[in-house]
Amino acid sequence: MDDFNVDLQRKIRDHSARVAILGLGYVGLPLATIFAESGYNVVGVEPDEHKVESIRKGESYIQDVPSEQLASLVRTGKLRATSDFSVLADADAVSICVPTPLRKTGDPDLSFILVATDEMAKYIHRGVVVVLESTTYPGTTREILLPKLAEASGLEVGRDFFLAFSPERVDPGRKDWTTYNTPKVIGGITPSCTKVASLWYEQALETVVPVSSAESAEMAKLLENTFRMINIGLVNEMAIMCDRLGLDVWEVIDAAATKPFGYMKFTPGPGLGGHCIPIDPLYLSWKLRALNYTARFIDLASEINTGMPRYVVGKIQDALNDQAKPIKGSQILVIGAAYKPDVDDMRESPALDIIGLLRQKGAEVLYHDPFIQRIQHDDWYLESVPDVLVSAGDVDCVVIVTDHSSYDYADILKHAQLIVDTRNALGDAGRSNPLVVRL
Ligand SMILES: NC(=O)c1ccc[n+]([C@@H]2O[C@H](COP(=O)([O-])OP(=O)(O)OC[C@H]3O[C@@H](n4cnc5c(N)ncnc54)[C@H](O)[C@@H]3O)[C@@H](O)[C@H]2O)c1
Repeated sequence: MDDFNVDLQRKIRDHSARVAILGLGYVGLPLATIFAESGYNVVGVEPDEHKVESIRKGESYIQDVPSEQLASLVRTGKLRATSDFSVLADADAVSICVPTPLRKTGDPDLSFILVATDEMAKYIHRGVVVVLESTTYPGTTREILLPKLAEASGLEVGRDFFLAFSPERVDPGRKDWTTYNTPKVIGGITPSCTKVASLWYEQALETVVPVSSAESAEMAKLLENTFRMINIGLVNEMAIMCDRLGLDVWEVIDAAATKPFGYMKFTPGPGLGGHCIPIDPLYLSWKLRALNYTARFIDLASEINTGMPRYVVGKIQDALNDQAKPIKGSQILVIGAAYKPDVDDMRESPALDIIGLLRQKGAEVLYHDPFIQRIQHDDWYLESVPDVLVSAGDVDCVVIVTDHSSYDYADILKHAQLIVDTRNALGDAGRSNPLVVRL
């Protein structure tokens, strides 16, 4: 084994390795915190000066990272943040956690990965391990990162430096499964890359699951998220079919879920949201299109899921119609704007589409969300209404889009003139109630 490899492994084991995390968002900040907690000196490299400043002040902007914990790590010098990429020259272990969104055309936008890799390429040196965490299509680590890092440096992967992919599985807001105890899949470009990257992650995380290649690790993440997206698409279509059949989809789902084997419960909703489930499978279908293959399940589920906000607006329209009211001019209060309960993240949230569609039809839309104070989207801007208005009952229709646990649903039900409940937040109280329309 080469000296620097022995040296890197020693530094990883005795925690003297200097860790750098590129991108301190929902994924990068918790990861940086965990490495710092485990004893490494960690520097986060983040182009957003506001985030860097927050970290310097010990103020967390990510719900899952408490400010007290962050402040203590910053105070003791274990964690710091900078926008200066030159710190990568001194890093022994680097994790890349930058965004992987879609372009307006629906194709993968790898620009953040490209910029981060170019920065890494400027400072790559012998004996460094680099791990990509951003969700992406199979082949990205080998086809995009490897040539840039190897050509810039003239170094050989698996011998002079180490490169791997490890998908992030964080579920924001979740307390039982965290970045620390959720098993972490790691696949390297070469077996020694897998070995070194696994050794590093094992120091800070409970379980590491090595796989034979970076591509397997990239694909495993896409299987997980595609599985979820397709099952949500299936159950959303079940809701539409049950509606046509005059059946209560929630009762049907609960009945099916009593089967102790061979069934996994998914629930319908107003549409997909978040940075992962609506987006990641499209990375896979894009890659397959380039290979002349159509990922049919993904296309179909995507079509059903993206149609859900419009379906919900149809339900609102019908419900108002039954009360002899048009959407145009009606006051409609949307409850919950985040993409899922008890988080402050509204990326890709179906609430955005629902509010936009209702506004297009001339409704006067108000919204309330305890986590999101204001929304600027497309050509509209709204501020969350005061808490007292949530159950004031003086709007034409209340639409429950996100079932945050802090809401008093019984109180909302007591005062509302009409409710469209897209999450079954009212439970049995909403069943057979003429003022409640459920998905
Ligand atoms: N949020 C989740 O729940 C989640 C879960 C699993 C996987 N992922 C994946 O992890 C990746 C990161 O997602 P996220 O939610 O943390 O995104 P995010 O937008 O919250 O954070 C990304 C950060 O990277 C920074 N950044 C942008 N360009 C950079 C660059 N060139 N160098 C360094 N930093 C840069 C951004 O300013 C931002 O702070 C994505 O690929 C996403 O699909 C996210």
